[in-house]
Amino acid sequence: MAKLPAVLLAACAALLALAAPLLAGDPDMLQDLCVADYKSLEGRKCDAKVTSNDFFSDVLSLPGNTGNPVGSAVTAAKVEKLPGLNTQGVSMSRVDYAPWGVNPPHTHPRATEIIFVLDGCLDVAFVTTASKLFARTVCKGEVFVFPRGLVHYQKNNGGAPAAAISAFNSQLPGTQSLAVSLFGASPPVPTDVLARAFQIDGGMVEAIRSKFPPMN
Ligand code: GLV
Ligand code: MN
Repeated sequence: MAKLPAVLLAACAALLALAAPLLAGDPDMLQDLCVADYKSLEGRKCDAKVTSNDFFSDVLSLPGNTGNPVGSAVTAAKVEKLPGLNTQGVSMSRVDYAPWGVNPPHTHPRATEIIFVLDGCLDVAFVTTASKLFARTVCKGEVFVFPRGLVHYQKNNGGAPAAAISAFNSQLPGTQSLAVSLFGASPPVPTDVLARAFQIDGGMVEAIRSKFPPMN
């Protein structure tokens, strides 16, 4: 086989080195534990005084309040609520659904998600960057995967409450809800941008925006 020129090999190596961090999840840990010290820089320092309670939370023990326009509630056990998760690269949330409730389309920029249905049946789906929808019904005891960064949603397809647990391969997956980000941003995304993007008129943009009070 012909040898590759050294310059080509060097270019390939440089490309691979650049790509590696893009493929990575949370950085690998350098010690057994590093309980987040929230008195320091956003918990980026390890707390010197660690107890078993730093690794414990009962935040997922009770259903969230689904009495809201979408009919769902996400309760997260992520590093801000569970300091022992710091540097461990995992987290979890509980999702409760009112009858026919929806967890609206959103993405997690930093994690893949696997959802385990505790009660009921959910219509779940994600959309790829090529706009292909992968959808199916997932019932009690079953799991479904939402690949990292892809838009996904769940809908309770029954007349009784449903619940699920989601696990993430990040201590802080981040959640970006499409409707809230676009219509509840502060300062607002300009009306003409949204009107063009959705091919609707400005009045309709304002009508939708009125349902999403600015988040901050
Ligand atoms: C469900 O999609 C969740 O992010 O908890
Ligand atoms: Mn999700």
